[in-house]
Amino acid sequence: MHTEVMAVDRDHPAPDVIDRAAAVIKRGGLVVFPTETVYGLGANGLDADAVLGIFAAKGRPADKPLILHVGAPEQVRNLVQELTPAADVLMERFWPGPLTLVLRRSALVPDVVTGGGDTVAVRMPAHPVAQALINRAGVPLAAPSANLSGGASPTAAEHTAGLHGRVDLILDAGPTGVGVESTVLDLTGPVPVILRSGGVGRNEIGAVLGCEVEVREGDEVYQLATPFMLLDGPPEQVIRHLRHLLALDQAQGRRAGVLAYREEVTFWSPAALVQVVGSRDDQNELAGNLFAALHRLDGAGLDVIYASCGPSSGLGAAINERLKRAAGGRVRRVPVRSLLFVCTGNTCRSPMAEALFLAAWQRRCREQPPAVSSAGVAAVPGDLATPGAVAAMETRGLSLAEHRAQALGAGTPDLVLTMTGGQRQRVRANFPALAERTFTLREYLGQGDLDVVDPFGGDMAVYRACADELERLCGQLVEMLCLAGNGPVEHEV
Ligand code: TXA
Ligand code: MG
Repeated sequence: MHTEVMAVDRDHPAPDVIDRAAAVIKRGGLVVFPTETVYGLGANGLDADAVLGIFAAKGRPADKPLILHVGAPEQVRNLVQELTPAADVLMERFWPGPLTLVLRRSALVPDVVTGGGDTVAVRMPAHPVAQALINRAGVPLAAPSANLSGGASPTAAEHTAGLHGRVDLILDAGPTGVGVESTVLDLTGPVPVILRSGGVGRNEIGAVLGCEVEVREGDEVYQLATPFMLLDGPPEQVIRHLRHLLALDQAQGRRAGVLAYREEVTFWSPAALVQVVGSRDDQNELAGNLFAALHRLDGAGLDVIYASCGPSSGLGAAINERLKRAAGGRVRRVPVRSLLFVCTGNTCRSPMAEALFLAAWQRRCREQPPAVSSAGVAAVPGDLATPGAVAAMETRGLSLAEHRAQALGAGTPDLVLTMTGGQRQRVRANFPALAERTFTLREYLGQGDLDVVDPFGGDMAVYRACADELERLCGQLVEMLCLAGNGPVEHEV
């Protein structure tokens, strides 16, 4: 398919360009168009075949529903069973704008739009080009963000390059304004629920409705091509930790990039590629630049990208949420005041790691170590450490005699480190409060997703090899935490 790109003026879209685009929509084609949040990939939302084209072009899973974009609030009426008072007042206050409402659908809406469900998401975008196109086409536009499925949303037409050859027309009106996607608010239950934080904040919605608004965000991730690490904590500690990580990267020849707040650029070593996203205190600026900055860093051929959470008020919640998604749902908190090692039975790997970590810390740092413990995802409480683990520690002057296995349970340590990806999955699934802060040990150290293999049932050589490996990894972990995140700086990096 040949993809045509047409420039269009944001505020005064030329009628002939809009006519062309509307004609493509009316004959069932696909048009990438700007909204005030991100670029959308639009088709006639009442034409099931046209909508199927969106899924094909994006590689989007068929059960993921689409937003219908309307040109005026009245156009929602035919698409839904009823307009509730809450919907009315929200449309009145926030439309046109970055708020999507999920309502009960009418029979007019094709199943492909709703993923077969009985609700439909609707929004009226504020962008003049989007409005002109919808009104000229005379139909609601089904449109997801105009990225290939799983990618970060496009805030400029250049970011939609992946769709060349897959869509009929791209309307290029320059960068979008808001920068993060619309807030998706479900109004079909007893209380309003934010399914995705975005351009309109929770408090703003709560204030208009005069009630509590719940937040229940999905765990969708943006698959960046480059490994992405997100830090959270007091800015001074985050800066110190990140400087240490950058020094490690440099020493190991890894090229790193930092998504940086303007106030902090001077802290990053010249070895890192720094992409300023905006001022820490200007959330509109941050949101507006976020995806463009991510796209730029992701396209720079780096080995790793770092970012840190900002304040979470207002648009900040939506920004931090996007960062979290880019980080695969995981956040590195600094400083680490409490640390839990997790394996399966809590009789070999995790108690060894606990002992080895503390020993390494005491050799290396004068600061107070974090509170360290260990547990198993399938532990029999009270079990002793296996003889192999006891012996492997004894040769290092460490004792596991007092160790008793415990199951994973209460408490929320700052950091949970598992030995394997499978254990990480079990922690995340069974303990939602820990999900964000659970990593495999190697993953946390930036060494990819390799497991520390279970020595259980092996001979002494197997245990020794496992202990050697854990000793090395724990030493690296101490370097990362002791010298970088916790306590005062011992030496400049
Ligand atoms: O700002 C935006 O919302 C952009 C612009 C183009 O309007 N659109 C956008 O669409 O981000 P998309 O498809 O990338 O994300 C839509 C989100 C998805 O998380 C989807 O699951 C959710 O809205 N959604 C759509 N219909 C829904 C429904 N009926 N019930 C619950 N969630 C729905
Ligand atoms: Mg999307």
